[in-house]
Amino acid sequence: MLTLLLAEAAIELIPKKIWRHPSVLKHAKRRGKKAGAILLDRSYHHSAMKDLKNAYKRGRPDITHLSLLIALGTPLNKNGLLKTYIQTRDEYIIHVNHKIRLPKNYIQFTGLIEQLYELGRVPKQGTPLLELKKHSLQDLFRIKDESYVVTLMKDGEPKTLDTLINTLIKKKNPVVVIGAFPHGRFSKDIIDISDESVSIYSETLEAWTVTSRVIYEYEKALFNL
Ligand SMILES: C[S@@+](CC[C@H](N)C(=O)[O-])C[C@H]1O[C@@H](n2cnc3c(N)ncnc32)[C@H](O)[C@@H]1O
Repeated sequence: MLTLLLAEAAIELIPKKIWRHPSVLKHAKRRGKKAGAILLDRSYHHSAMKDLKNAYKRGRPDITHLSLLIALGTPLNKNGLLKTYIQTRDEYIIHVNHKIRLPKNYIQFTGLIEQLYELGRVPKQGTPLLELKKHSLQDLFRIKDESYVVTLMKDGEPKTLDTLINTLIKKKNPVVVIGAFPHGRFSKDIIDISDESVSIYSETLEAWTVTSRVIYEYEKALFNL
């Protein structure tokens, strides 16, 4: 079983500080929702985001959407051998049921995540497909079980995917951390839980590219392809 953490995902509800900004009010009116119940999204709230701290790292739910679609569609996931979590920027952990059929449409995806923020789980009844929980990464990976955490980043130690997967495949509880944010570096919290930080290419890659490559390489090693 491989665990994937899409970390510091650029997902959050619109922060109170910009609720009254004209671009936010306009978007909220069009959606028929309160500003505080809508996901922050740079493509709608660009001008309002200028007032936010670390704005370059925020307002990109599409990165999680694409990475998640790719991860959930892999044979590894379909065989129940991938456990996926999303750490949001407002410090929630989203537990993803591997059986979820995620909307391919981005607007529907954001609607689903907004519903998740409202209800804490979706669907409201029955087995949850997504759950929003407030707990630390340490709870998830260190105390509960002895995980081996590899964080992928451009400035990590250069390694081929082959070498990386050879290490992971031997571990009891391998965890791969991929940043679901557009720019910037991981926070100290992520570095602190990492056993190693690895770079798989000399340039910056998109999160979904790294997601697909790592999972495919892991499948090859696991299924002897
Ligand atoms: C668009 S990048 C985030 C920007 C960040 N400045 C960076 O260079 O990693 C999205 C994520 O993809 C992964 N990633 C990007 N380039 C990588 C590389 N060359 N090697 C390993 N992981 C990489 C990292 O997990 C990163 O957080």
